[in-house]
Amino acid sequence: MAPRMPNASNRPHRARLSATPLEKKQSSSSGPISWKGLLVFAIAGGGIWYYVKYLKEEKEKVKEAERNRSIGMASLGGPFELVDQDGKPKTDKDFLGKWIFIYFGFCHCPDICPDQLEKITTIIETLDKTQGIPKLQPLFITVDPHRDDPKSIKEYLQDFHPRFIGLTGTEEQIKAVTKAYRVYYSAGPMDEDEDYIVDHTIITYLVNPDGKFVEYFGQNKSIEEITSSIGAKMVNYKYKK
Ligand code: NI
Repeated sequence: MAPRMPNASNRPHRARLSATPLEKKQSSSSGPISWKGLLVFAIAGGGIWYYVKYLKEEKEKVKEAERNRSIGMASLGGPFELVDQDGKPKTDKDFLGKWIFIYFGFCHCPDICPDQLEKITTIIETLDKTQGIPKLQPLFITVDPHRDDPKSIKEYLQDFHPRFIGLTGTEEQIKAVTKAYRVYYSAGPMDEDEDYIVDHTIITYLVNPDGKFVEYFGQNKSIEEITSSIGAKMVNYKYKK
């Protein structure tokens, strides 16, 4: 800290300096991003990156909302009653207060589901390394309840992120949750080994701590795009509250 001046003799000098246009410009803190605001995000760690992304997203928001409305995405999601990989009942209410990331698939899927679950694993590992944002909870919901009982889901998910919660249920329960998320699925014909493929929608859904659907990501979205988008959504949510 600088020692206090014994007198105020330099005051007029300072006043003159601050009157110059350059000084005025430098001392001005007006503008969309204040130093205070930036500091808050810097403390959050990695926050600035998300904030820049957030600003870009704001521009895109109107367009996105328009697009979502036109395909009815705004009304996606809703309540569900299922059973987890330990055989315990789980409903949407159990996840209130958490950000959840829902993927629909089936354990016998030859390549697409494993690819997607690996992708989700990478996304979560990246987000986990970012300070100042909450943990994302991944959910795997089966579209093949006939074969995917809690035990087989538990075994299957061991290859992916340890935080994964796998959910199954009766045909009706799966029908209800897939309908809420507008997930299409259709089991193909059985081969001689009684194996079959289930054709299904490949979309991952982001749901916020209020249990509201926020965004969906198709198969073509990159890990980087999805990670930054989720991070931005989390930061946006946090600072709006
Ligand atoms: Ni699949």
